[in-house]
Amino acid sequence: MYQQITRRATLRALIGASVAAFGNLNARAASVVPEATGYADVPGGKVWWMRVGLGPKTPLLLLHGGPGAGHNYLLSMKALADERPVIFYDQLGCGRSDAPENDSLYTIPRSVEEVDAVRRALGLDRIVLFGSSWGSMLAIEYFVTRGGLGVEKLVLSGALASIPQAVAGMRRLLEALPNGGGARLRTLEAQGQLQTDEYQSLVQSFYEKHLCRAVPWPPDVLATVDNISKSPAYRVMNGPNEFTIIGNIKDWERRSDLGAIRVPTLITTGQYDEVTLDCAQTIMEAIPGSQLLIFEGCSHMTMVEKPVEYVRALRAFIA
Ligand code: PHE
Repeated sequence: MYQQITRRATLRALIGASVAAFGNLNARAASVVPEATGYADVPGGKVWWMRVGLGPKTPLLLLHGGPGAGHNYLLSMKALADERPVIFYDQLGCGRSDAPENDSLYTIPRSVEEVDAVRRALGLDRIVLFGSSWGSMLAIEYFVTRGGLGVEKLVLSGALASIPQAVAGMRRLLEALPNGGGARLRTLEAQGQLQTDEYQSLVQSFYEKHLCRAVPWPPDVLATVDNISKSPAYRVMNGPNEFTIIGNIKDWERRSDLGAIRVPTLITTGQYDEVTLDCAQTIMEAIPGSQLLIFEGCSHMTMVEKPVEYVRALRAFIA
């Protein structure tokens, strides 16, 4: 054990030196450096990816939420790159990736094709697949429609298998907002007052309870919110905000298809997650042998709110 740690530490020091010496690294150099970035061709454009780490264990591929949130809020999972490559990418329509203003591109089937294209571009034959929120939907959809080839384990965070189920849960959370805030939100929406300060501050109070409780929001969360606000993918697929799901994912339903998932699966959620506990429980009950972890005091962005505990739990599961 002692020797292993020492060797790793030495390797990391060496790698640090080569990164400094060569500056901006291309994909070809990635096999000898801990961090590389590049672009992959996917249907509809190019997406930006980042691969961190080079350990021997199965690569971890991360699917962010939103759609359109970008990789930023997942960065605490870089800590897992001491044992395996961890791959982040911004899906088409957000962050550093192309974001064509062509609404017809932003669909669930294209996003599934994008996962395959990213795997091909990076040679990811075997993966541990992680999906957060919309990313959990994408991971489920990917598994159900593609059969999960080469996917060894699955982690579903803030997870849902049905938008109608998640929307019903959000309705309950809105109704529980203090001072009739939920009803007020709906009234303002009905009047088309989404740009008013009152509406925006009610949205913010919902987000600070159920989206991310690490207040004030750290830079990675601000970057995520910025990504979402600019993303055609969010507008077309999700809708104007987290609890007004009027985009093209609104009827998505895979509860009865979860039996297709036959790999070890970890489901995580926060105590106050905007994607309510019943959504996670439904998945747990349908995937034999799966485990559910509830992070106390957390909401939807558990990996931001309790990064150390989150990474520790993932490390143990994907070991
Ligand atoms: N907007 C959520 C996310 O962060 C996804 C979501 C959509 C959750 C609809 C529930 C209902 O990815």
